[in-house]
Amino acid sequence: MKTKILCFLGLMICLASFVYAQLSGATTNSYVCFSCHKDQQKDWVTTWHSRSHIDSNPIYKAVVNYISRVTYQPEESVLVSCAQCHNPKMTIKEISGKDSFTLAKVLNVETEQTKRVDTSVSDPSLKDGISCNICHNVEKINESMGMEMRGFKAVEWGPNDIVYGPFEDDGRAGIHKSIQKDHFINPDKLCMACHFGGETDTKVELYATGKEFLGSDDTSKRCADCHMSTKRKGIITPEITRPGIVAKERNIRSHLFEGARNSDILKETISLNAKPEGNNIILELTNLTPHKAPTGFGGRSMDVKIEFKRGDSVVDTQTYTLETIYVDKKGKEIIPYLAASIKSDNRLAPHESRKLNVPKFPGATSAKITVTYRLVSDRILKLINFSDPIFNKNYPVASIDINL
Ligand code: HEC
Ligand code: HEC
Ligand code: HEC
Ligand code: HEC
Ligand code: HEC
Repeated sequence: MKTKILCFLGLMICLASFVYAQLSGATTNSYVCFSCHKDQQKDWVTTWHSRSHIDSNPIYKAVVNYISRVTYQPEESVLVSCAQCHNPKMTIKEISGKDSFTLAKVLNVETEQTKRVDTSVSDPSLKDGISCNICHNVEKINESMGMEMRGFKAVEWGPNDIVYGPFEDDGRAGIHKSIQKDHFINPDKLCMACHFGGETDTKVELYATGKEFLGSDDTSKRCADCHMSTKRKGIITPEITRPGIVAKERNIRSHLFEGARNSDILKETISLNAKPEGNNIILELTNLTPHKAPTGFGGRSMDVKIEFKRGDSVVDTQTYTLETIYVDKKGKEIIPYLAASIKSDNRLAPHESRKLNVPKFPGATSAKITVTYRLVSDRILKLINFSDPIFNKNYPVASIDINL
């Protein structure tokens, strides 16, 4: 009997410490969340939030390598600076005494600092990128909106066993307490913690989606309305039941953070019209979004291609590209992070309607107009010497045919 009780006690202690270990790490490891929140996980893995770490995003890796090569910095130094938004919970926030760090790395000497940086950069808990524990552990968002204040500098995380969300806690989750926060009821501010924009050291504006959005004076739809989903009624993790607590039906959304790669959102970017007028085609492109089109990462671009046809054969093709061109001090094209200035930016402003006059090709009987989206323009891909089916692809946006 005694041994049975001891065994039972032992088991309970073991179980209690297991639950405690899970709890205390509740918001440091997102795999804890996955076990209960399968719906959110299923959506989130399709998004590139789940791939913001260097090991899972080949273009991020290529750009980090490129910057490291051309600026003679160790890759770790570059990664620490990008982690501000890409891996905001990285423990090392800045590398002090950069010269001695670089020297130690070049000579392949292990110092206290190189050990600390290497451990921090390769921390396995960073690998799932912008995951549950990044957003749902944000207790407070700082008001300042400068680039230097984005990412981890824009937020304050709460204790490890608390999740913040859009609802009041009714105790049903059990494993975690939850606290209702305004930045989940209207998440624009949360999104803008990283997607607001700001200037690099050389005063070049990057990632200005939030700034574009606030300048558009159109907040009828918010970031989450278009990029997560409309709200629908549902019970969170319905399989969990607790005596005495009735599961509430909540207004919930998808966790798709819809982008070019995991959704049809590009089909809602522009409306396209075209009509022949005299010797021209008048093309009209209207940006349906409250930010620029394309927005976000500086390499994004859109091609408007006009194919003139005689019968079935194409007799002439013209292309008009919407993009930002970044240059160095000598005016040579360079990647956004190393630019001294922006040479041109002809992307569509929020809700802009732009008319293009395209001279008709003599003898053409019809024209096909197609708009496609590129995650990274060919010119940047060439610059960093990178090729990959996901990034070399033209994603369809809109197309029409007209008779001439
Ligand atoms: C043991 C299962 C379980 C685990 C593990 C779990 N949750 Fe929950 N969580 C729930 C349940 C059940 C609810 C629903 C509560 C309700 O509807 O009132 C919930 C609610 C939530 C909410 C909404 C709360 C609010 O205040 O708006 C968020 C956000 C959330 N969980 C995030 C997380 C995150 C992040 C993790 C990982 C760190 C996690 N959960 C781990 C079961 C779990
Ligand atoms: C980029 C930030 C972000 C990430 C990453 C994120 N969430 Fe959320 N989550 C939100 C926002 C914003 C809401 C509130 C949506 C609303 O109601 O407008 C939310 C709502 C929720 C809710 C409440 C119910 C619902 O679906 O609306 C749960 C539960 C939840 N998240 C769990 C998770 C889990 C689990 C993960 C990881 C797989 C995760 N979230 C990743 C931003 C995030
Ligand atoms: C902690 C910083 C951070 C927050 C908060 C954040 N994002 Fe992101 N977001 C990123 C980073 C970094 C990427 C790029 C990831 C990559 O491709 O490597 C990204 C990518 C995206 C993309 C492109 C995704 C794809 O699959 O191509 C969309 C859309 C997006 N975010 C929307 C949102 C919305 C909406 C919110 C608010 C609910 C939000 N983000 C909150 C950092 C953040
Ligand atoms: C009316 C719907 C709508 C609203 C509101 C909206 N977006 Fe978008 N967003 C789009 C569409 C459509 C695209 C694709 C075309 C483009 O790049 O402009 C897009 C593209 C993006 C991208 C690039 C996606 C990718 O695949 O890399 C990011 C990042 C983004 N939006 C973030 C935001 C943030 C942050 C907010 C709020 C400040 C926001 N959006 C508000 C519709 C919207
Ligand atoms: C201020 C926050 C922030 C900083 C700092 C930052 N990024 Fe980003 N990064 C983002 C956001 C937000 C996106 C997503 C934009 C979009 O989808 O268009 C992104 C997207 C990207 C992409 C495109 C990824 C894809 O999947 O298409 C690359 C490449 C990239 N970042 C490289 C870097 C590098 C390299 C650094 C450091 C030199 C860096 N970023 C620093 C916020 C940041």
